[in-house]
Amino acid sequence: MANELPQDMTSREAPAIAWRATVMTLFPEMFPGSLGQSLAGKALEDGIWEIDTVDIREFAEDKHQTVDDTPFGGGAGMVMRADVIDAALQSVSDLEGRSVIYLTPRGQPLDQARVKELASAEGVVLLCGRYEGVDDRVIDAWHMEEISLGDFVLSGGEPAALTLIDACVRLLPGVMGSECSPEEESFEGGLLEYPHFTRPRIWEDREVPEVLLSGHHENVRAWRQAEAEKITAERRPDLWQKYATKDNPSSSKH
Ligand SMILES: C[S@@+](CC[C@H](N)C(=O)[O-])C[C@H]1O[C@@H](n2cnc3c(N)ncnc32)[C@H](O)[C@@H]1O
Repeated sequence: MANELPQDMTSREAPAIAWRATVMTLFPEMFPGSLGQSLAGKALEDGIWEIDTVDIREFAEDKHQTVDDTPFGGGAGMVMRADVIDAALQSVSDLEGRSVIYLTPRGQPLDQARVKELASAEGVVLLCGRYEGVDDRVIDAWHMEEISLGDFVLSGGEPAALTLIDACVRLLPGVMGSECSPEEESFEGGLLEYPHFTRPRIWEDREVPEVLLSGHHENVRAWRQAEAEKITAERRPDLWQKYATKDNPSSSKH
């Protein structure tokens, strides 16, 4: 069950304690990357959230700073060493109130409900894998949550970390302006979002749906609800089935 976010999403005041992302990576220079721009970048400047990186390589003990080794049992590729990652994690302060997450295709697929919970906590500690991944024992020893971005394989966990942090940061109080309404976005209420239109009213012979020009709020609301249901039923039968089995009277139409 997702924790509720505070009601006032629009206050620009920085919270007493900023939401904090710690990223454990072999490529610390990739951060804040895209998170230094736009909404997330402004919120970073405003002190609403903060980010720090742990360079895993600094915790290697040999003179070559080796962080990986060949897999027991043979096979292709290299595996990141448990002892090096453990030492890197020991260096992280303020773990209390923050989930330690290993980003991996083997994890639970990330969804908006989990994003909301993570945004409501004090922050996250994210372990980015490289090569074939990470020695399983350190995942176990630290009771890491395993999260996937989807059924595809990235070359490293860093783009996944940037994505997870972006999804959380935009939900922090004060990050989105009053013009944005998270309650109406995709996945809220279990549906994908309805279509949007803006000026010009006619573009290349394509007209905006008449109802949106009517000024009749109830009709607009009903049209948007029906469109959201239609799109969800067509594109995401998995979401639609969940929605339809909840107490949603209109859902029988599709
Ligand atoms: C080349 S991948 C390793 C893939 C692994 N051998 C497998 O088959 O599951 C290297 C790293 O990228 C990250 N990664 C790849 N795909 C991901 C996904 N879909 N979601 C989250 N992280 C991913 C993980 O941190 C992983 O350790």
